[in-house]
Formats: sequence, C-alpha cells, structure tokens
Amino acid sequence: MSFDLTHILDEAKAQLEACPDKEALGVLRVKYLGRKGLLQDLMGRIPGLPPEERRGFGARVNELKKSLEALFAGKESALDGAGEASAKGFIDVTLPGKMPLLGRLHPLTQVGNEVCGIFSRLGFKIFQGPEAETEFHNFEALNIPLDHPSRDAFDTFYLRPFDASRPGFSGQEKKLLRSHTSPAQIRALKNCPPPMAVVVPGRVYRPDAADASHSFMFHQVEGIAVDKDIRFSDLKGILIAFAKEMFGPETRMRFRPSFFPFTEPSAEVDISCFACAGRGCSVCKKSGWLEILGCGMVHPHVFKSAGLDAKKWRGLAFGMGVERVAMLKYGINDIRLFFENDIRFLEQF
Ligand code: PHE
Repeated sequence: MSFDLTHILDEAKAQLEACPDKEALGVLRVKYLGRKGLLQDLMGRIPGLPPEERRGFGARVNELKKSLEALFAGKESALDGAGEASAKGFIDVTLPGKMPLLGRLHPLTQVGNEVCGIFSRLGFKIFQGPEAETEFHNFEALNIPLDHPSRDAFDTFYLRPFDASRPGFSGQEKKLLRSHTSPAQIRALKNCPPPMAVVVPGRVYRPDAADASHSFMFHQVEGIAVDKDIRFSDLKGILIAFAKEMFGPETRMRFRPSFFPFTEPSAEVDISCFACAGRGCSVCKKSGWLEILGCGMVHPHVFKSAGLDAKKWRGLAFGMGVERVAMLKYGINDIRLFFENDIRFLEQF
C-alpha cells in the first residue's frame, strides 16, 4: 500500500497560495492539521500497515507534518504582515483605481448656454434680472393691465412684503416671483442705453400643478434689441438664424399673429416638426409645426416705462422656454424629467 504524500503537499501549497485571509486559513488548517484532518488520518493508518512498511511510512508522514506546519506558519505571518501594512495606510499602487463619478452640466444649463451662445454670436450681450421682481416691472411697466388674468393670485407667486406697514410703502415695491423674463426688458433698457441688444436667461415661476408639460418653475431666455430703425424683418431674420442653428439647417419657421401687451405687432413662432419634417406625426399632433416662442416689436408703453422716447426708438423682443427648446431638440416628452434628478436620464446629455 502506498500513499502519494507529495501530491498532498502540492495541493496544500496551491490552496495556501490562493488563501485570501485568516478565516480561510483556519478552514485549511482544520482540513490538513485538525484532529480529524488529513494528517491524523495518515497517522491512524500506520498501525494497520505491514511491519516492514511502518517505519518508512511513519517517517514520511512526519516529514509531511513538518512541511505543512512550516507552510501554515509562513502563510500566517504573511497575512499578518499584509494586515499591518494596510493598517498603516499602505496603498497598493498596482491595484486598479476606482473610477470617480464625473458630474456634468444639467441638460437645461447646456441648452440655455447653447441658446445664449447663438444669440451672442449674433451680437447680443447677456443680461440678468432678479427672480424676486417688483409687481411694477413684471406687469405695469409691460403694459399688462390690472384685470389681466396673469396678475391673478392663482397665476402668480406673490411675496409677502417685508415691511408693508412702513409709512410710504408703495405698490411699486410689492414683490413676486417673476412669471416671465420680460420684466428684465425694462431693467435692460434702463441699464444699457440703446442701441442695445441683450438676451436674459433665467428662472420664472407660475403656480401651475406639475404634469408632463407644466412645472411651477421653468427657464426662459428673453431677447430685446433696440435701435433707430429696427424692423419686423430683423426679428424674423434673427429668429430664423437661431432656429436653423439650434434645430438644423432644414428647419422652417412660421409666424402666427398673436397678442402680448408689451409687443405690437406680436407673433407666436412655430418651427417645422423635426420628427416628420413638417409632414405631420404624433410629435406635432399631425400639424407639422411645433410652437417655440413668442415675439413682437417693442410696445411704446415699454419704452415709456424705461424712460425712453418711444418716437425715437424701435425694438424687437422675444421670449422662449428653455425646457420647451430642450424637449423639442431631444424629443423629451415629460418636463418633470428635468427636475427629478434621475441619473439615468441626466447621464444621456
Ligand atoms: N413673456 C412672454 C411669455 O412668457 C413671451 C414674450 C417675450 C413674448 C417677449 C413677446 C416678447 O409668454
């Protein structure tokens, strides 16, 4: 009868090599050196062997025992050493690194920048107005009459005046969260004497219930350009140049007569549907057109509010929703996606 003791030693070596930690080492120790382990099993066989084999076999088992004990002791101190090294803050520079999660600009920031970028290449400067705006700038100055529905408490977030009881408090100081970026037209006209051309990006607020196409807060980009002989054809040319750059050179535009109290004449602008090139599909509800902005020629009342001579100056103005532009550009069908902070959505931009 012969036992392959070399094989046992080789196998133990391989298993110890692969052994990752002390817990696994304990399991191996029981397997080889434990009371019911392999070595004990071999020892137990000695008395049953023919007398002439006992001595030689016994000696080889003894040798195996010594080798195994030495191997286990070696592995144990190696694991101890590794533990100590990591406890001391040892860094194994050969390990692959962890990929950090990289942030990026929010899709609305990207699209807002893109819109402003196109207009600044057309000569517009960037201007900013406050989000907490006076009732005067948001409405009166823009020729929005007292009985206009947008002035209703259901359509505007009014802010409680800080010190309304103060003697001399005037209605002009009454504040609200601006419902559009148009009040910045007045501020821009006062700050940048014409000839001037600015775009105003920013947040606007309306107490709408959130659904696929409404949000109580969204973003607009306003534009206003004033000079002595600006015409409606300038407005068309600028907006067509914008649309072709934003949505592609094939894009067509359509101006529909409309009404805004602060522009005259006024128009709403549609672009040809990017999904069907104007043939009619589910995206454009079979019309072939998608509405993207409101615009018109600056109303004399606006010039007067800003202290300018309405006879001397002419201007064009437009305002568009950034969410709407982004939804059209990327085929996004729910505005809430922009605000839910779902990384799976945001990572696509
Ligand atoms: N302020 C308008 C809106 O929010 C858009 C607009 C801006 C229209 C400038 C004409 C000129 O709907």
